[in-house]
Amino acid sequence: MSLHVESPTLGTEPVLASTREELATFLGKRAGQVALVPTMGALHEGHASLMRLAREHADTVVVSIFVNPLQFGEGEDLDRYPRTLDADLVIAEKEGVDVVFAPAVEEMYAGGLGTAMTTVTPGDLADILEGASRPGHFRGVLTVVAKLFGLVRPDVAVFGQKDYQQLALITRMAADLNLGIEIIGAPTQREPDGLALSSRNRYLTADQRQTAAALSRALRAAQERAAYGVPAARRAAKSVLKGEPGIELDYLALRAPDLGEIADHPEPGSQGRILVAAKVGATRLIDNMELRF
Ligand code: PAF
Repeated sequence: MSLHVESPTLGTEPVLASTREELATFLGKRAGQVALVPTMGALHEGHASLMRLAREHADTVVVSIFVNPLQFGEGEDLDRYPRTLDADLVIAEKEGVDVVFAPAVEEMYAGGLGTAMTTVTPGDLADILEGASRPGHFRGVLTVVAKLFGLVRPDVAVFGQKDYQQLALITRMAADLNLGIEIIGAPTQREPDGLALSSRNRYLTADQRQTAAALSRALRAAQERAAYGVPAARRAAKSVLKGEPGIELDYLALRAPDLGEIADHPEPGSQGRILVAAKVGATRLIDNMELRF
């Protein structure tokens, strides 16, 4: 475990805890509200914004960095997922994070990752959209988040709205299992051309990076047509994506804010959500935006 060190340029180094014991030792000394920001590392400005929001709600901010094998399917990018702990610690320090919990897989899954392990089974909401394309993904996400909640016992936890379905499922888990943790959704951070910030953007070549911006353009086009109803909004998004041969669409879905089905012509003034997933080259990207009808 490292000590707090004042740096003239950045601030106070966060404590780095890599075992559950080190984390417990640190947390045992803290008083006041605790906020948790769970991440898989490869931190960027999107994560930094979650840390700032966490700080608004708590005296102690804990960031976890753990690439969770249980939420990756076969053939997904578990092995090549970027692991950049040193750079991540610089961002955590800049944002005044108190402790970074970065356990190894064996530490996090000390009982083993086998079939005997207890896991969290999500409800039906996990079977659509991301869950339909990535079977078992949300079981992995909810299980690791529940484990992190058990280790940190936060008062609040902050997740990005970019993973909108994940945020909905975690919110539901916290309510259904009476965890007593407030779940806060933070707005998606974007590049100037609209591309949602993501750790996976670093896989993109320069050409793919340009192509990827069409995803947010498509969502914006849908927003602009939402007053004409769901079919018009869907057509607007599709016509943007059709002009981009480099995008291999997985799904483009218009849903109610709770991800339930939505009528073709919702009540004027009501809200919905448009969600997209697509491959750009070998990289799978997701994004979503609010719609107002
Ligand atoms: O959104 C992520 O980075 C991950 O799914 C999470 C919530 C940290 C769980 O591994």
